[in-house]
Amino acid sequence: MDLLRALIMCGIVGYVGHRPASDLLLDGLSRLEYRGYDSAGIAVVEDREIAVRKRRGRVAGLIELIESHPVEGSIGIGHTRWATHGDPSDVNSHPHLDESGRVVLVHNGVIENHDRLKARLSETGCGFRSSTDTEVVAQLIGWHLEQLIESGHAADDPETCWSALRATLDELEGTYGLGVLFRDCPGHLWAARCGSPLVIGVGDQEYFLASDTSPLIGYTRDVVYLDDHDTARLGRDGLEVRHRDAGTRDVAVQTIQDEAVDVELGEFPHYMLKEIYEQPDSIRSAMRGRMDGDDATAVFGGLNADAGELRRIDRIVLTACGTSWHAGLVGEYLIEEFARIPTEVEYASELRYRNAPLTDTTMVFAITQSGETADTLAAVRECRRKGHKTLAICNTVGSTIAREADGGIYLHAGPEIGVASTKAFTSQVTVLALLALYLGRMRHMSFRAGEAFLESLEAMPELVARTLECHDTVREVARRFADCGNFLYLGRQYNFPVALEGALKLKEISYIHAEGYPAAEMKHGPIALVDERTPSVFVTPRGGVYEKVVSNLEEIKARGGPVIAIAGPDDERIAGLVDEVIPVPDVPEFLQPLVTSIPLQLLAYEVALLRGCDVDRPRNLAKSVTVE
Ligand code: F6R
Repeated sequence: MDLLRALIMCGIVGYVGHRPASDLLLDGLSRLEYRGYDSAGIAVVEDREIAVRKRRGRVAGLIELIESHPVEGSIGIGHTRWATHGDPSDVNSHPHLDESGRVVLVHNGVIENHDRLKARLSETGCGFRSSTDTEVVAQLIGWHLEQLIESGHAADDPETCWSALRATLDELEGTYGLGVLFRDCPGHLWAARCGSPLVIGVGDQEYFLASDTSPLIGYTRDVVYLDDHDTARLGRDGLEVRHRDAGTRDVAVQTIQDEAVDVELGEFPHYMLKEIYEQPDSIRSAMRGRMDGDDATAVFGGLNADAGELRRIDRIVLTACGTSWHAGLVGEYLIEEFARIPTEVEYASELRYRNAPLTDTTMVFAITQSGETADTLAAVRECRRKGHKTLAICNTVGSTIAREADGGIYLHAGPEIGVASTKAFTSQVTVLALLALYLGRMRHMSFRAGEAFLESLEAMPELVARTLECHDTVREVARRFADCGNFLYLGRQYNFPVALEGALKLKEISYIHAEGYPAAEMKHGPIALVDERTPSVFVTPRGGVYEKVVSNLEEIKARGGPVIAIAGPDDERIAGLVDEVIPVPDVPEFLQPLVTSIPLQLLAYEVALLRGCDVDRPRNLAKSVTVE
């Protein structure tokens, strides 16, 4: 069978200690399932025997398999997979063994030279079972191990395992986070990182390995983040980390903050709904400690840029993907209006390959919920390589982008588990508003204007809580339109990015085709799509462009298209024109995205439910996009 190229964004867990490994691994995989849910598997080593259990589908299926075929042992690895190429079959599921059965591993990443390596190994008689690139890594470690044993090295000596692993990593091109077990050296678990995140949890005579901190919650708060080109040995006797170039290195144990703790669903049926309802609190957290009433400005602890440097900036580049990119668009409007600094918003996937002319006075901000998005990380690295100060606006403490950026601002939104981003968006907008205020106040924005800005911002958590009261109305609207095959989302100025975000939410969780546009662009082409089965969602609260948007809305009505309006409270004029109105509180224009995005999140949620879609795990998607 041809070796198909597997693009994998997956979740990895591992455990070494004194408790039954399978329970901990399954618990960890359940918490990492948002990273991928095509298949799940674990391997446990005990008495020099490796037991593997894996199957296509969700972690729940793996749990059933293990109930009927339990595995014993207190050292193990586990994996949950997201694949775009390669069949999500039982055989392609991780963990993968080498041919001799001495090595077993789990992998997150892409091995780009797997074809060449496979051809070479096949010539030595090695037989492959799966069509993944990952099996090549297992076979290659097995091959190097064999060579070492033949030349007199002991199979049960950890140094032999280090050597087999190192020799393999030196041959790999691409990205990997690996968890590896050696049958004949059973007291240890190895990990290796290049491009795919890995964190080690430090317990009492036990260690945990994971792709992010969520599986560690409840077990330990002490963590060690691995860097690229680190390999680690986790044993009951301790932890050792070696860097490819620097040898054994000191491990810095950090403590995870409280905010990482709340990963339970509680009374909510889905994480997405829970996270939508958390927004009054997450917006409050994004502002906490950052409002300086005395100077009518914002304060940030971790920017790592002094006032002189910030005053010299004459251009800002905001780079991100997906929903974070939409927040960046709101940021552009905010920064240009209040700080008067020319701002551009670049898709990270484009910026990373462009030779963008950035000058010494350009500042780059990467916006990312996860802090692990491969394209955003690559853009950060490219900008830093060229000597530009690059800051992060990030939610996940300790993530790769948070650690590699020159400084930044955390969102403090708490973990976002639902694959469709909701609370991260409003927290990003909140932080960008504070940034606009901060940069504005060190230029020409008056004290009075700064005070008014802060007052408006301070009122937002309460207003967002009131906005959530539209949920019942949204549910009715969803019932009326859930079987339509196309939607248009339209808004202007601050509500143009909101229209884009509303369309993305509907697409990703209900699989309905939706397009977002600046409302006035309709007549330049998209209006041809309008018919009685294509609802247009107009984001049209009161403000400077209200009249203009109403005209655009009438153009749609005149052509027989149904219109759903997100409008200010008691807006009789809109109510008389459209088919459905979802009311939101009046707020200053520059903060409207914080309220107008809420009904659009709820609409996508309700429509997806009515269509029977898996809201928290939409098809083909994964939460952290750690491949290009
Ligand atoms: C959409 C969504 C994605 C992410 C994008 C960037 O709901 O979640 O579009 O916004 O993959 O992810 P982060 O912000 O983690 O870099």
